[in-house]
Amino acid sequence: MAAVAIRASQLVKWFGEGRARTLAVDHAALEARFGEMLFIVGPSGSGKTTLLSIISGILRPDEGTVTVKDTDIWRLSKDALAEFRLRTVGFVFQDYHLFPRLTTAENVAIPLILQNVDWDKALGEAEKYLEVVGLHERIGLPPFKLSGGEQQRVAIARAIVSQPQILVLDEPTASLDGDTGRRILSFVHDHILNDQRCILIVTHDARIFEYADRILRMEDGRITGTVTGTE
Ligand SMILES: Nc1ncnc2c1ncn2[C@@H]1O[C@H](COP(=O)(O)OP(=O)(O)O)[C@@H](O)[C@H]1O
Ligand SMILES: [Mg+2]
Repeated sequence: MAAVAIRASQLVKWFGEGRARTLAVDHAALEARFGEMLFIVGPSGSGKTTLLSIISGILRPDEGTVTVKDTDIWRLSKDALAEFRLRTVGFVFQDYHLFPRLTTAENVAIPLILQNVDWDKALGEAEKYLEVVGLHERIGLPPFKLSGGEQQRVAIARAIVSQPQILVLDEPTASLDGDTGRRILSFVHDHILNDQRCILIVTHDARIFEYADRILRMEDGRITGTVTGTE
């Protein structure tokens, strides 16, 4: 079996104070392997985005550990954690988070610029990845000239431009029609997944379940089991 990419255990995250205090993640645990496309499904408010943010090194948990390739990420120094976010993880946000004033290629180049790759080289790489996601003819345009499905593909290109081993997508098809959503997922499955990469996807969308290797259910901050069949 492939090596373990992510091991998350006993994760706990609280938000707010006093009576508004909410337990968003309640001793959640999961394991994901390289070469695997792992889905997490569950009702709105069950803690899925919070869990992804903790695993991606974006949000510090109150308790528990996240081990990625044998590194306990929440024990890293601030700088090492920033490196981890920049090089090891690619995050695709639910509403894309593209910069409206930049071109499509510039948006994709940003992670490389942050890694001090020079501008021409970064743009060259960005164009390469826009080709990978089938958007070569859109390179000079600003994101608002693109359809929702195209913007999602730009966000995916930006997430993979630094060749992360962990790719995280938060509700990637939420703003897309069914056909576009399925096309994006089939593309991710066929071209972005490989045996040195692990992909985590949070979704409500049963139409894309066919692309999952495994589906975990999240309820009230906990991973409560595996979804099987067509439930
Ligand atoms: N930044 C925040 N501040 C306060 N409460 C939050 C914050 N983010 C999430 N929550 C709360 O934590 C719970 C889990 O949220 P979230 O992880 O966004 O769930 P999901 O992604 O499954 O819809 C919800 O009750 C939500 O209101
Ligand atoms: Mg969410």
